[in-house]
Amino acid sequence: MASKNQTLGEFIIENQSSFKYTSGELSRLINSIRLAAKVVNHEVNKAGLVDIIGAAGDTNIQGEDQQKLDVYANEKFIQTLTNRNIVCGIASEEEDDFITINSQDENHQNKYIVLIDPLDGSSNIDVNVSVGTIFSIYRRITPVGTPVQLKDFLQKGNQQVAAGYIVYGTSTMLVYTTGDGVNGFTLNPAIGSYYLSHPNMQFPKDGTIYSVNEGNYIHFPQGIKNYIKYCQEEEGNRPYTSRYIGSLVSDFHRNMIKGGIYMYPKSSKNSNGKLRLLYECNPMAFLAEQANGKASDGFTRILDIEPTELHQRAPFICGSKNMVNKAEEFMLAAK
Ligand code: AHG
Ligand code: MN
Ligand code: MN
Repeated sequence: MASKNQTLGEFIIENQSSFKYTSGELSRLINSIRLAAKVVNHEVNKAGLVDIIGAAGDTNIQGEDQQKLDVYANEKFIQTLTNRNIVCGIASEEEDDFITINSQDENHQNKYIVLIDPLDGSSNIDVNVSVGTIFSIYRRITPVGTPVQLKDFLQKGNQQVAAGYIVYGTSTMLVYTTGDGVNGFTLNPAIGSYYLSHPNMQFPKDGTIYSVNEGNYIHFPQGIKNYIKYCQEEEGNRPYTSRYIGSLVSDFHRNMIKGGIYMYPKSSKNSNGKLRLLYECNPMAFLAEQANGKASDGFTRILDIEPTELHQRAPFICGSKNMVNKAEEFMLAAK
């Protein structure tokens, strides 16, 4: 029975047996993520103090400037997962290709692969605004003991066995699901332990917050423009409030707690929007559904999209169920 003073370690052990593919492997994997998150948290917290902020001078595969902390977080998560020899493959938003983990033991039985956005919202670091980490976990589909292949990573989101995020905010939280609801744990920095602070998180069915980068308004599809106008109309509980942090993790987290909708639609500039299907949309969509919310590309359930490339993007509309349904209605009407 989940209780509020339970630590993440205790929670993982207690809930391990309710996971449908019972094995300690997934628990060890989540343990590694929480460990790496603690290290990254420490670094994020002192970003204002040391000369680690600012672009590292590289651009990632998406052609965006990489921040130093992106590189750091990427290395830490990959190192932790590789050294502890728990997964057989990793794909990261910051790496051009997926990484194959060669276990020293040639009979290694590792079944899981991880996809990760090591630092989400990185443009917010320089201004002391919350950033996050997003992770997504699948069972490999190729035989254990052989090198992973691209097809292990290109599974539909509905095949995820676990997903979650860390938000490095006013406090640091780890929020995750293994397909049995969503639970949130807050880090007590003095002790270094995460405590179950938000058991069984749920999106309110309806909300009054909409989160979208309205600077792109003129480039949006007509359905989104019409929905935004609907959000702004005076009627019932409208106009809604606009809140946009520019860190998906933080915008999602707030909307899940308060009720709201997040949108990163396609535009005349980006035909598939900006967010990456595998590192951002799928894990957040799995969490949303597990928390009684919804995630769509405007027409299709995010989790049912068949991925074709590691770094592909997808339009993303996610949040309180009634709000996402309404946005979809507008999309369909303007098709
Ligand atoms: P990342 O820092 O991993 O590249 O992700 C940034 C994403 C997402 O977190 C955020 O919601 C969105 O980009 C913001 O984009 P705009 O600045 O275009 O609104
Ligand atoms: Mn991101
Ligand atoms: Mn990122």
